[in-house]
Amino acid sequence: MTHKTQRFLTGITTSGTPHLGNYVGSIRPSVAASKGANATSFYFLADYHALIKCDEPARIQQSTLEIAASWLAAGLDPERVTFYRQSDIPQIPELTWFLTCVLGKGVLNRAHAYKAQVDKNTASGAEPDHDVTAGLFMYPVLMGADILMFRATQVPVGRDQVQHIEMARDMAKGFNHLYGDLLVLPEALIEASVATLPGLDGRKMSKSYDNTIPLFSSRDQLKKLIAGIVTDSNGPGVAKQTEGSALFQMYQAFASLEETAAMQRAYAEGIAWGDAKAMLFERIDRDVAPMREQYHALVANPEKIEAILQAGAARATALSGPFMQELRHAVGLRKLQASAPVTSKAKNHKAAKAAGPSFKQYREADGQFYFKFLSAEGKLLMQSRGFVSPKEAALAIASLQQQGADALPALQGQLDLMPGVEMLEVAAALSLPISASKDESHAISG
Ligand code: TRP
Repeated sequence: MTHKTQRFLTGITTSGTPHLGNYVGSIRPSVAASKGANATSFYFLADYHALIKCDEPARIQQSTLEIAASWLAAGLDPERVTFYRQSDIPQIPELTWFLTCVLGKGVLNRAHAYKAQVDKNTASGAEPDHDVTAGLFMYPVLMGADILMFRATQVPVGRDQVQHIEMARDMAKGFNHLYGDLLVLPEALIEASVATLPGLDGRKMSKSYDNTIPLFSSRDQLKKLIAGIVTDSNGPGVAKQTEGSALFQMYQAFASLEETAAMQRAYAEGIAWGDAKAMLFERIDRDVAPMREQYHALVANPEKIEAILQAGAARATALSGPFMQELRHAVGLRKLQASAPVTSKAKNHKAAKAAGPSFKQYREADGQFYFKFLSAEGKLLMQSRGFVSPKEAALAIASLQQQGADALPALQGQLDLMPGVEMLEVAAALSLPISASKDESHAISG
């Protein structure tokens, strides 16, 4: 399958303040991955997921702001990455329901997070489902919808999330089996090289262990927290072990190979812990300081972040909207006048395939005339900019219908490829007979 592009997607639950472990394990590698030449990336703020863990509205809002600001300060380019807030995409909860209806309940019974809670309850003599909301139970389905909605192929996650990706595959298979090959099976991407950062006490840095260093602590706070990292009691001049040293692992997560080697020598030569901590502080601060300024500027300017998220939501829904239409049709949620009843999924699928790609013309509230180009499967491939008259829009469409991809150079600046869509895919669709129609869902006058 040559048309298969790699599409990265990952979500960040908005229930806390980002710490250095989030930065090293998720933010930094994801931002780096998004800069790859062929990457299309979908990164989002999982605020529906946050509701499962957190019932403090102000905290959800604050965390959403802080996490969005952290990703942007860390170099996420919202032009390259489709960066959005989960709750701005109404198709996600809708797909959650579709998936709920194809996934066996037993699969969810076996989910690690749910099972852990049940085991804990059983051990303490409580009811098995004590303190378990239906939201916690359904967590993997919502996550499956996040992934399947945008046809992600690669999902960078920590090991603890791998089971969820497997479940998403199960849901996609179940759905496809019933309704046709619509959902893409995702793969977990577990970066072996991505460090699990130790926390202040040497265990994995995690909010649940209360051993974190906030990514954007002030210099003073950062210094103070680093001073509190556990070490052994060897004094200055006594050789230190790098293995099992949280301080060394943290240093390594930020340092170059040469810097790491130098620290290794310093350990062997018996560097005093106070000096090693000072080196760690300076090394981390060197990376964090420039981002810190940006972070504070962003947090002080929530409207700007909101605008970025709204733009991301517009890009995301340009994909999820049409795709959901296709999914609704597939399961039978249809306008009553639309096509005769189809009885089997095979026929259903054929009918979808038989229709070719299409142009849809419409007028926006800004008074301008636009069109979209959709694949035979209803996927949005291109979107035009506004034309002042319907005639100009029609001329552009006609040239595409007649000349196919050859018409594209002349239309440069008037058409945008949707994020994640490959030129090859567009060219292939343009080589087929294409229908054109006015889109009834938009009012077209004039
Ligand atoms: N469950 C993930 C976590 O806690 C967050 C998340 C929600 C996610 N939806 C996702 C991650 C979709 C990857 C893909 O880390």
